Amino acid sequence: MITKGISVKHLKLIGASLLIIGFAGCKDGTSASSDNSAQAVKISEINQSPDKADKFTYANYGDVRMTHLDLNLDVNFDRKVLDGIATIDFDRTDKTASELVLDTRKLKIESVEVFDGTDWTKSSYGLSSEDDLLGQALTIPLSSSTEKVRIDYETSPEAEGLQWLSPDQTAGKEHPYMFSQGQPIHARTMAPVQDTPAVRITYSATLRTPPELIALMSADQDPNTPRDGEYSFDMPQPIPAYLLAFAVGDIDFKAINDHIGVYSESYILEASAEEFSETPQMEVANAELYGPYRWGRYDLIVLPPSFPFGGMENPRLSFLTPTLVAGDKSLTNVVAHELAHSWSGNLVTNATWRDAWLNEGFTSYVENRVMEKLYGERRAVMEQALDMEGLKRDLGEASRPELTHLKMPENISHPDDAFTLVSYIKGANFLFFLEDRFGREHFDPFLKDYFDTYAFKSVTTEDFLNYMNDNLRNRFPDAVTDAEINAWVYGPGLPDTARDPKSDAFDQVSKIQGDWISGKLAAADINTSEWSTHEWLHFLNSMPDGLSGPQMNELDAAFNFTGTSNAETAYAWYMQAIKNNYEPANPAIKDFLMTVGRGKFIYRLYGALNDNGKADWAKDIYASARSGYHPIAQRRIDAILN
Ligand code: BES
Ligand code: ZN
Repeated sequence: MITKGISVKHLKLIGASLLIIGFAGCKDGTSASSDNSAQAVKISEINQSPDKADKFTYANYGDVRMTHLDLNLDVNFDRKVLDGIATIDFDRTDKTASELVLDTRKLKIESVEVFDGTDWTKSSYGLSSEDDLLGQALTIPLSSSTEKVRIDYETSPEAEGLQWLSPDQTAGKEHPYMFSQGQPIHARTMAPVQDTPAVRITYSATLRTPPELIALMSADQDPNTPRDGEYSFDMPQPIPAYLLAFAVGDIDFKAINDHIGVYSESYILEASAEEFSETPQMEVANAELYGPYRWGRYDLIVLPPSFPFGGMENPRLSFLTPTLVAGDKSLTNVVAHELAHSWSGNLVTNATWRDAWLNEGFTSYVENRVMEKLYGERRAVMEQALDMEGLKRDLGEASRPELTHLKMPENISHPDDAFTLVSYIKGANFLFFLEDRFGREHFDPFLKDYFDTYAFKSVTTEDFLNYMNDNLRNRFPDAVTDAEINAWVYGPGLPDTARDPKSDAFDQVSKIQGDWISGKLAAADINTSEWSTHEWLHFLNSMPDGLSGPQMNELDAAFNFTGTSNAETAYAWYMQAIKNNYEPANPAIKDFLMTVGRGKFIYRLYGALNDNGKADWAKDIYASARSGYHPIAQRRIDAILN
């Protein structure tokens, strides 16, 4: 049971600014459903069966498990709600189970019906009092003959998992847009589900939209579907609820090959197809390492700029920020990452958010292996080195040592706490360590077998470690010790067995940077003609503290950083500008915060403004920008700026 959380200073969310989240723990108290026809029942104590290791769900998934979800929904842009019926199939693990407990958050439940194999009849149900984080448990009594339940409901305009954009918030300016974000625990704001990665469901859906719009889901879909305002989907492979996803808008499609393509608003469609033209090679590289891609089509959708992540691995349809479309394919590792989740994360899923490194660390590792296969070791090592610089920076600022373990502590107060560079980069480096010790020739087939063995299953850290003991360490008992593994998984910080990624390219940049700082070399005389975005990021991120006004001026005059169109470089420069009080960048920083909603950038920018004597200015900008940000970003920045 979650206890009342004290406010803790967290590590960064994938490089995001520190945030303070305190929340009231889940309440056991029950409240009768207010309404009318349904007879309210008293809910038994929120089920906490012993094998229920995920404390961020109310679901009694130890006893009863959802197996299929059917959605029949109107996408109502006027009221900013999804409105319709969710029908749920389930299995009883406990044959005597007398209720089904689902997660909901801010859902309006109109009625519940149960199916006994012949008829649908109205059912009573209970709704627990609302918890700020977890929402409300929806408890439906089951009789021995109940085969299915269906819930007539609608979402809230404030659903944290949905962003509703007005036409003027889109590039086309003519039509509204809506997209979802389920991970980690926002699916319950879209539909009543068992919102835990331990439970997998297949799903089907029919969405009704204004006829001029297209609806897409994380499911089977035909890119040539006519626009007629009614769209049906099928997801035959079982997925955890957090991978349920919607996007609705004036969206066009361009094929990259026969089963890969890009969706976006028309303004960026050609540029996106060009930027991501190497996605087919990424799929081939991934499949060569870890077995075939198992999901049918693989499409990308480039969302409006308020999408709060770099990418999200929704099955068959990765969601991407438009800030990846840099024009030079320099940021496509994010596509390699989201695609890699088709093996690590979507196929083999972390069973609880405490095991998030099984999703993100494995995926960051696979991403880098794929980048190496496509672009060579030089680029792959530069990416490892940039990641390592970021990890070391964050580890230095960690407030609680347990938050630097790969296996997150039991008392994390929000699943977001598990999505720091620890899960991503320490996680990936644990696998680099294992690869180095066992050798690629043994480690690669081992990982492939792991993905096959646990395909369409949810696993814990301990499942993985046991599997490794039985299938790899048994054959090479001297390759690694228990103590080494424990230090990585259950110990703090970065073990001294970590790889030290050595990039010759970065060494060269560091040397030039040193010469510039010592005054030996003028910025204008630095030969940067061969530098890629990676060199620029190393150059900017490794600057010493306290650059002077003249130094900042000199850099900006030589390299035109302020206003640069590459979002990663712009962000790295604006962080320097804020720390060093370089005011000429202020209009561009404001413009960036007004137009980009990607959390990795904006949480840290607001945090840096707040910490560097510019809190009032930050609050002014936020007052204008907030309504354009995604609800997830709003929650995070509210906490940063209080
Ligand atoms: N699954 C994550 C995004 C996410 C994390 C959503 C936590 C909700 C909660 C996605 O795969 C991801 O990791 N995206 C990264 C890109 C990656 C290259 C590090 C991002 O958004 O920056
Ligand atoms: Zn990821």
